[in-house]
Amino acid sequence: MSAAPGFALAGGDLHASLEDPVLGSIAFLNEVMTRYPSAISFAPGAPNLAHLADVDVTAYAARYERHLIEERGTTAERARNLLHEYGPSRGLINDLIAEALRHDQGINAPPRSVVVTVGAQEAMLLTLRALCRSPDDLLAVVEPVFVGMTGAARLLDVDLVPVPETADGIDLDALRGACAEARTRGRRIRAVYVAPDYSNPSGSVLDLETRRRLLALADHEDLVLIEDSAYGFTAPPGRALPSLKALDTACRVVHLGTFAKVCLPGARVGFAVADQRVVRADGAEGVLADDLAVLKGMVTVNTSPLCQAVIGGMLLAHGGSLAALGAATSAHYRCNLAHLLAALDRELGGATPPGVRWNSPSGGFFVRVRLPVRVDTALLERCATEFGVLWTPMEHFYLSGGGTDELRLSCSYLTPDRIDEGIGRFAAFVREVAGPPRRGRRALP
Ligand SMILES: Cc1ncc(COP(=O)(O)O)c(C=O)c1O
Repeated sequence: MSAAPGFALAGGDLHASLEDPVLGSIAFLNEVMTRYPSAISFAPGAPNLAHLADVDVTAYAARYERHLIEERGTTAERARNLLHEYGPSRGLINDLIAEALRHDQGINAPPRSVVVTVGAQEAMLLTLRALCRSPDDLLAVVEPVFVGMTGAARLLDVDLVPVPETADGIDLDALRGACAEARTRGRRIRAVYVAPDYSNPSGSVLDLETRRRLLALADHEDLVLIEDSAYGFTAPPGRALPSLKALDTACRVVHLGTFAKVCLPGARVGFAVADQRVVRADGAEGVLADDLAVLKGMVTVNTSPLCQAVIGGMLLAHGGSLAALGAATSAHYRCNLAHLLAALDRELGGATPPGVRWNSPSGGFFVRVRLPVRVDTALLERCATEFGVLWTPMEHFYLSGGGTDELRLSCSYLTPDRIDEGIGRFAAFVREVAGPPRRGRRALP
């Protein structure tokens, strides 16, 4: 795009995050997708909206308005105004969210400890802003890590410390070592960002024992755990593990959630549960959610009440349960994921080229594939041009230079037919870059 003549800003004078490879890589991936519109894309972690075609947002908003009038005793005029005015920074549907979390997950957090945010993304930003006071406060992240959190930290100039992912979910010895190492440098690991259920990008799960040990370590090392539960709802029935927050007897966990994957990404409604007690110098007490709400007042002011009303109406229409609201969507994604894994097995499993491996998560959106070659944006462009398939290079999710032989496939955006066709093309690409097959395959954890 040609800019107006005259005054020009030097890129180097703008915030350093704008030159950060993480932010650049997201822009690049979006741009690649627009350049190959006919390619079959396993790149976006975005939900497919086909099953939402019939969602009547007006009816859901009206359902919430009726709830205010009939069950909360609000006058009709006040109920309408609540939806049309600016709203409280803390949110409007906090009680419904708190009740759903209590009912579905056994998280006992009062509505006052909930802040309704513009997606989980804003919740990450606010939580990090509130927790990190000095440049010596560090955020540890399980690596590979969701770029939304990396980006939020970059925007806030919070330095990151990668902690390796393991088959159990997180290398706790490495985290303990990182805490000690930070202390020797006069710094402190303030918080740890962790997505215990089917993380983005690797689909990993923290097992129950590791959840307990992580909570104990957080208590021992004086850490706050920032739990991102975006994909927890995709666990197969009866196999969901308790969230960190549900196990959190010491109040170490700030729990972040989103309705984007469960039901309606366009509503941009997420939330933070921050019930940590905050004691001020003058002895006044509150909870961390109060502070998040203050910060939110300076960022987005409040989350659109109309959008909250739609989500509130959807929750009410499903008996106030997040699990019930997400049940059909979750089944849809599990079906896609099973389809993707079956297609990989069919196309590459019997005669796997050497050095090719992939994991088989039971939920979430993502499958991680390892190739015996350098996996970068050049290889992605080659795959797009010659094979008409897109995916995401994993190196964008690493802070310390890893992931250079891995890519991420997402099952969320495509229909089963397109998954079959896309994996057929992908397998041809893999065979070409990885060489002749051998029998059987070794799985990634
Ligand atoms: C792990 C994870 N957390 C949070 C988000 C963002 O959620 P929201 O759309 O509510 O901002 C995503 C979106 O892809 C995600 O993958």
